[in-house]
Amino acid sequence: MRGVCDVPRLSLVEGLKRPDEGAQPPPEMEPNVSPQIPDRASALTLLESWVENEGLRKHMLAVEASCRHYARIYGEDEDLWGMAGLLHDLDWERYPDEHPRRGLVELEELGYPDAILQAIRAHAPDRTGVEPDGLLDRVLFACDELCGLVYACCLVRPTGIDDLAPKSVTKKLKDKAFAAGVSRDDVTRGVELLGIERVEHIQNVIDGMRTIGEVLGIRAEDRP
Ligand SMILES: [Fe+2]
Ligand SMILES: [Fe+2]
Repeated sequence: MRGVCDVPRLSLVEGLKRPDEGAQPPPEMEPNVSPQIPDRASALTLLESWVENEGLRKHMLAVEASCRHYARIYGEDEDLWGMAGLLHDLDWERYPDEHPRRGLVELEELGYPDAILQAIRAHAPDRTGVEPDGLLDRVLFACDELCGLVYACCLVRPTGIDDLAPKSVTKKLKDKAFAAGVSRDDVTRGVELLGIERVEHIQNVIDGMRTIGEVLGIRAEDRP
């Protein structure tokens, strides 16, 4: 380590020079451009290359739509929040035992922002040890399981999502045999994380999913 005395001393004359006198022109600076965040089209292409199962694709689209809806409510970045939802289960089909770690490696390599990676880690705290913290983490966690339940509710109704009300979803939530794969504990925890009434959260998820009812095939006119 250099001591203070090792620092080359300026001569008096040099010391009195104005800072710009005799100074070398600064090197050409690279413009300060932040790295390009992948857009939705490339996120969708990525999803389609990793996920073949139609049900899982729809689930990811449903969570995307719900996260987008929440971003609009909270005045946040809709594209960013939507992408977290769209890609949160990227590796579920290929690497169920390693989910979501394999997907996270891929997304990090592709330059997806930290906020998305963090939210994806936190949607599976039992697997990653990362608990939901920020608002996007909480929203993604809260929408994930509930989207599955809302989707299942739509499938057993002739009118699908068109006139689905939170009351019907709450009834199915209490019926543990209905869509038994949906973790009721996670739904409850999601509501607590958001700090809003359960009925409000259910309505928000319905509203979000309704925006892509056609894509999900859950409108009355899509029903058999
Ligand atoms: Fe997941
Ligand atoms: Fe999911």
